[in-house]
Amino acid sequence: DTNKFQAIISHCKEYGFIFPSSEIYDGLSAVYDYGQWGSELKKNIRDYWWKSMTQMHENIVGIDAAIFMHPTTWKASGHVDNFSDPMIDNKDSKKRYRVDHLIEGHAEALEKEGKKEEADALIAAMEALLAKDDMAGLKLLIEDNKIKCSISGTSNWTEVRQFNLMFSTQLGSVAEDANEIYLRPETAQGIFVNFLNVQKTGRMKIPFGIAQVGKAFRNEIVARQFVFRMREFEQMEMQFFIRPGTEDQWYAYWKEERLKWHLSLGISPEKYRYHDHVKLAHYAKAACDIEYEFPIGFKEVEGIHSRGDFDLSQHQKFSKKKLQYFDTEINQNYIPYVIETSIGLDRTILLILSEAYTEEDLSTPEKQDSRVVLKFPPKLAPIKLAILPLTKKDGLPEIARQIMDECKSQFYCFYEEKDTIGKRYRRMDALGTPFCVTVDHQTKEDNTVTIRYRDTMQQERIPLNKIMEIVQKQIN
Ligand code: GAP
Repeated sequence: DTNKFQAIISHCKEYGFIFPSSEIYDGLSAVYDYGQWGSELKKNIRDYWWKSMTQMHENIVGIDAAIFMHPTTWKASGHVDNFSDPMIDNKDSKKRYRVDHLIEGHAEALEKEGKKEEADALIAAMEALLAKDDMAGLKLLIEDNKIKCSISGTSNWTEVRQFNLMFSTQLGSVAEDANEIYLRPETAQGIFVNFLNVQKTGRMKIPFGIAQVGKAFRNEIVARQFVFRMREFEQMEMQFFIRPGTEDQWYAYWKEERLKWHLSLGISPEKYRYHDHVKLAHYAKAACDIEYEFPIGFKEVEGIHSRGDFDLSQHQKFSKKKLQYFDTEINQNYIPYVIETSIGLDRTILLILSEAYTEEDLSTPEKQDSRVVLKFPPKLAPIKLAILPLTKKDGLPEIARQIMDECKSQFYCFYEEKDTIGKRYRRMDALGTPFCVTVDHQTKEDNTVTIRYRDTMQQERIPLNKIMEIVQKQIN
């Protein structure tokens, strides 16, 4: 449903959720800025993840490592040699494509024409070639299927080549001996290099985890899917350190545990599926995606990876520092194995927006009417409570201000006195505010207000002193 996808993008811009970066200069490809409500939504999702991973697990702690890391980190991690995607250039349009995206796009088009079997066969053939790093085979597959460039429509291709996705910059003065460093392409390495610092200072016992949220950077080639694929994005990752030999059990555990987290947001299980990887990343022994059905189809939102001792062994080798753990239960020293859970914050925002965005037809025989409403889970909504005096006079704003003063330290409130009450309700629907209270003349007489519920649009009168309790109950 590309219409819905486009509608979400427009809505995000119109209502202050997400803007193209440096828009006054016509934007920067695949880079976005979060506006006043987008950043609030982002913070709420980040906090929800952080709390469920750290506070709710006694054996998981969080850190906040730097984006810049010693350049040897990326040699050890394998990213310098392996973090690349096969790309192909179209000779006529001079456009570069990620091979997997090009082929997937063609398969989707086939499926739309009703040729599902052909599409499935194409994807299977691609996965087999990717697994073997068979560049010539990929080129043949593109040519044999007469896959065309989406810009010029021609099928005049170059060879397939590997293209590294890391951004680099110089540390210190460029005039000096240039010391090339990378912007981290994943947050995970900040955890691995701090493994012993945290284990020792925190006296952590295996199994234990380290969680982190932070920016990551990738020079994505195909990046035309809004915040789904960005060049600067945020990851929420957790590395779980375990005794070798227990990896299958913990891999299964975290696969299930992470899906439960998604479902805890009230999202239907039908919107999710697991996708086990055939082609594994250079560090992985087993890998699985949690996919969500976005308006643009089922796509990866989170990865669960069984990384073995790959990362810690590599860092031990390159740093020549022992990265081992003494397990008192079995009296043995070993390099722990790792199960990783890695979810994109921006993708989760897109997921929450896709779930929440609803166009409703409210027409009656007398009047045509409709609304756009963002049905966010209340705990994620940027604004929890809107406080609206019915008119700007008769002392109503003063009462509304009092409510505002009482509630604003507890949760995010929004005060608004402009426009008709109907217009104000619709605006709050569009921002996803779950509750509105209206102060009217009756409030002065009996200390009651009208509370309006976003999803049902139902209204009821409640005592002033019940407002806080009603909202609090829904957002915790
Ligand atoms: N440490 C493991 C790792 O980075 P990944 O599958 O490459 O694994 C994990 O990335 C998650 O990060 C993905 O599931 C996705 O949600 C998010 N992600 C990756 N690349 C992204 C991009 N270009 N834009 C937005 N999110 C991205």
